[in-house]
Amino acid sequence: MQRRAQRVTGLGTTIFAEMSELALRTGAINLGQGFPDTDGPSEILEQAVDALRTGHNQYAPGRGVPELRQAISGHQRTHYGIEPDPDREVLVTTGATEAIAAALLGLVDPGDEVVALEPYYDSYVACIQMAGAVRRPVLLRAPGFRLDPDELRAAVTPRTRMLLVNSPHNPTGTVLTPAELAVVAEVALEHDLLVVTDEVYEHLTFDQRAHVPLATLPGMAERTVTCSSAGKTFSVTGWKVGWACGPADLIASMLTAKQFLTYTSGAPLQPAVAYALRLPASVLDDLREDLENKRDLLCDGLTSIGFDVYVPEGTYFATTDVRPLGYADGVEFCRELPTRAGVVAIPHQVFYDDPDAGRSLVRWAFCKREDVLHEALGRLRRAYG
Ligand SMILES: Cc1ncc(COP(=O)(O)O)c(C=O)c1O
Repeated sequence: MQRRAQRVTGLGTTIFAEMSELALRTGAINLGQGFPDTDGPSEILEQAVDALRTGHNQYAPGRGVPELRQAISGHQRTHYGIEPDPDREVLVTTGATEAIAAALLGLVDPGDEVVALEPYYDSYVACIQMAGAVRRPVLLRAPGFRLDPDELRAAVTPRTRMLLVNSPHNPTGTVLTPAELAVVAEVALEHDLLVVTDEVYEHLTFDQRAHVPLATLPGMAERTVTCSSAGKTFSVTGWKVGWACGPADLIASMLTAKQFLTYTSGAPLQPAVAYALRLPASVLDDLREDLENKRDLLCDGLTSIGFDVYVPEGTYFATTDVRPLGYADGVEFCRELPTRAGVVAIPHQVFYDDPDAGRSLVRWAFCKREDVLHEALGRLRRAYG
């Protein structure tokens, strides 16, 4: 008797679970999984406590509580000058992960091709496979991790249905430039493709870089679903409150899938996220600035230890090449790291179809307290310096 469906074959346990477990077992500092080790702003947490105490504990509407949908629409207006209709063009989801899953299940048929930037966030691989679709990678190559327009064009075939675009990009830290975004838009328009964007790091871009949603480019609003979430922006990754904005018909198809995945979730957290999205821009600036300082702290430290460091333009993550330390393989380096140095990191290989493309690369999360980053760097220096 076969006890596993083909749609989950080969997906296994995520490397994050494996590495987080290794961190727990060895007492290592976990710079693997991308979650902050401090809570988000206390005023946001207080809103959730209030909601718990004032009767927001039953099913929220499937599309999300109206207050949050209005706040999401207001957020898109304030930051990007677009204003999705809160009743038809906004959907609240269980994290961006569910938004992306619902997009793949609701908008793509078995056999359709989905073009995505490689290395990819692991849920894309799983959800494309579970939707019965076929992934077509477009490689962002070290050291620059830029999008090559010719490779994007070459990845599109008559079977392509969707471009799945993540910017700011995990794990490389790339923020697509206006020119790169224009190429994505051009390809989508030329081939009449749907576009789903993963913008969970939209407010975590560095060195004054602006994040530009693809939906704001000419002709793109009609074909683009923009996904994001509160987790990364407000340091509440455990809340899993995300959303999708896009044309009403696409959102309706996603809702059809979403209502049979979770129907709804996080009822008392939804008003708190609505509150967070309405906070003044200075709150976002402070969170970003704090993270940018941590990026610099970790990147400078890793450079001084001898790693080749690719300084990220956004996200929670920095990438290094471990070859200068005498390792050819990031998996080997990461498996040894907890016992040799007392630190956990993630090998890039797990984000690629072609492991050779990321063989010597390792990803480090810097969304941790400064004293934790100092301690991790001290341990690394003692082990490798
Ligand atoms: C690119 C990307 N998309 C989505 C997610 C998950 O978002 P959420 O927790 O809102 O589901 C992550 C989390 O690491 C991510 O890095």
